[in-house]
Parts: sequence; C-alpha cells; structure tokens
Amino acid sequence: MIVEFFQHLRLPAAKWVKQMGYGREIISLEARHQRCHDAWAPHLTATRRLIIDAAADCQDTGHAVVLGSGALLDVPLHDLAARFDRVDLIDIVHPNSARRQAARFDNVRLIAADISGIAPAVYSQAVTADPIGARPPPPIGSRDKSCEIISGVIDRNLAKGGALGALREPRPDPAMIAGADFVVSTNVLAQLPLPLLDWLQAHRPFADDAARDAFGRSIIDHHLALLQHHPGRVVLITEVLRLITVDENPIEKIDPLFGAPIFADGEEWWWDVAPPGEIDRHRAMRLRVKGLPDLAKADQSRSCRNTTLAAP
Ligand SMILES: C[S@@+](CC[C@H](N)C(=O)[O-])C[C@H]1O[C@@H](n2cnc3c(N)ncnc32)[C@H](O)[C@@H]1O
Repeated sequence: MIVEFFQHLRLPAAKWVKQMGYGREIISLEARHQRCHDAWAPHLTATRRLIIDAAADCQDTGHAVVLGSGALLDVPLHDLAARFDRVDLIDIVHPNSARRQAARFDNVRLIAADISGIAPAVYSQAVTADPIGARPPPPIGSRDKSCEIISGVIDRNLAKGGALGALREPRPDPAMIAGADFVVSTNVLAQLPLPLLDWLQAHRPFADDAARDAFGRSIIDHHLALLQHHPGRVVLITEVLRLITVDENPIEKIDPLFGAPIFADGEEWWWDVAPPGEIDRHRAMRLRVKGLPDLAKADQSRSCRNTTLAAP
C-alpha cells in the first residue's frame, strides 16, 4: 500500500486525471499483474501475438497508433517499433514503466489523451453533496460552495427530471488516429466507461440505472464508431463478457459493453483476470476477450453474446 502510495505521488499525470482515479487504476493494474502473472500470461501472449501477426500483414508501415497502451503489458512494442516508422502510444496516463520502455526507441511517442472524448467534461460538471471533510476536492465550478448549496442544486435538478446538467455526447477526437496506417485498440474499450460512471456515481448520481447504462453505452458506441470510420487497418481487442464464479460455478455474467453488439467474428480466449485468491478464496472473475485482426474485413457474426447463466 505504501509503495503504491508513493508510486501514485510520482506518477506524471494531470491533477484531474489522478483525482478521477486513473492513476490509482494503472498502478493497481501493474500490482495485480505481478500477483497474477501466470494466470494473465495466456491472455497477454494471445493479445501480443494477434497484434504482431496483424502488423506483419499490414502493407503500409508509416504510422501506428496504440489506443489504451497503459503499462504496455499486452503491447508488443519492440515489434511495432521495428515495423513502423512512427508509433504513438495513447493513454490517459502513462506509468513510469511504460515511459522507460518507450524511451528505448527513437520512433515511439507517448501521448497523454482522453480516448473517450468525454472525461474532462464529466470531471468538470460533477457536483457533490458529501460532507466537506469526506469528499474529494470539488470540481471546477463548484469551488467554495457550501454543502447546502450543492445539495440544493442536486434536489432542484432531480425535481426537473433527473438531469444534472445534461451530459453531452462523447466526442472522441479523430485527430488521435488521423492518417495512421495501423491502429490498435487494446483492452481499453470496456474500460472507458468505468472510471466515468464511478465518478458520476460518487458526485452526481444518475436518476436511474437505465440512464447510467445509456451513458456507458454511448461511450462504447462512439469508440467503436471512431474505429469503424478509420480508413487504415484497425485491430480491436476487447473483453465481451465478465464471468463471476464461486468455487468454479458461474454465478453472474456481466455485459461489459452495455449491450453494444460486436457483430464480427474473431479469435476468442479467456483472461483469468482475478483467479481464486485474488478477490477471496472462492470467488473468481474471468473475462471473455475477442480479438479482431482487421475490423473492416472481419466476417459478420450471426451470433450475439448471451449473458444468461445457462448460455455457454
Ligand atoms: C485494461 S488497461 C489496458 C492495458 C494496457 N493495454 C496494458 O497493456 O497495460 C485499460 C487502459 O485504458 C486506459 N484508459 C481508461 N480510460 C481511458 C480514457 N478515457 N482515455 C485514455 N485511456 C484510458 C487506462 O489508463 C489503462 O491503461
């Protein structure tokens, strides 16, 4: 814990990014990877292999972009840097381990950017009714306001139908990938909504679950649209199902894409993200991961994932 605290302190990231928890997440991802090294290995190998094969098959080798590069656990950086003239690694936060790896290559750039196209807007419109001592630093715009005023804002807006200042649509910036010959979205799609929903839940709760899920879904849809409109080669690797087990018996299936269908065939494998012992002795979490080496050319899939427990 102490080690992770100092890692967070030393993490080079904007203050709002750290406040929203992105720094803590990437540090705990690296710590989880150390603890679950063997359980994660097949997933990381499958992801890297799919990216290496797709890169080898990509005729244009000018510019590659990796979206959600994070700690570079699943990114074959050496292979990409050898194949492409320029490689951009995009993530909202680049841990020091990734900075050290990237520094070994003259043609690799780290870009700190929000991929969702909505994170700064979510951050700056949040309000909170928590007691002052217990709440995180107030977002811009609600500084110096008392709890009563903030509670009043929430009550008045809820009375108007639950909209606390309507959230605009996510607008992921196409300039992030403009002109790229090769774009990889690697295990980031399903992660995009989570910190934003957590932040909103803590500061500006949704009127109901349907509103929350619709917001999560819009973030997923916009990332998919960004990739689908890109003229270069696009590789998509994403979790498509979360499975919770107790003593190896499935007890819950969660759709991490909020109902967004991916009607494309690709490779699939399991990522044992939390093997028994990580959460507790009995409980475990597995992710079903889908990898599409060429999004535009992927065969149309006739099946859609079914989250009922009886389904395979
Ligand atoms: C499961 S991790 C992906 C792991 C990464 N590919 C690796 O090998 O370490 C999800 C990544 O998504 C990033 N991420 C989450 N939300 C983001 C956002 N709005 N913009 C940019 N990156 C984001 C996180 O910082 C994290 O690095």
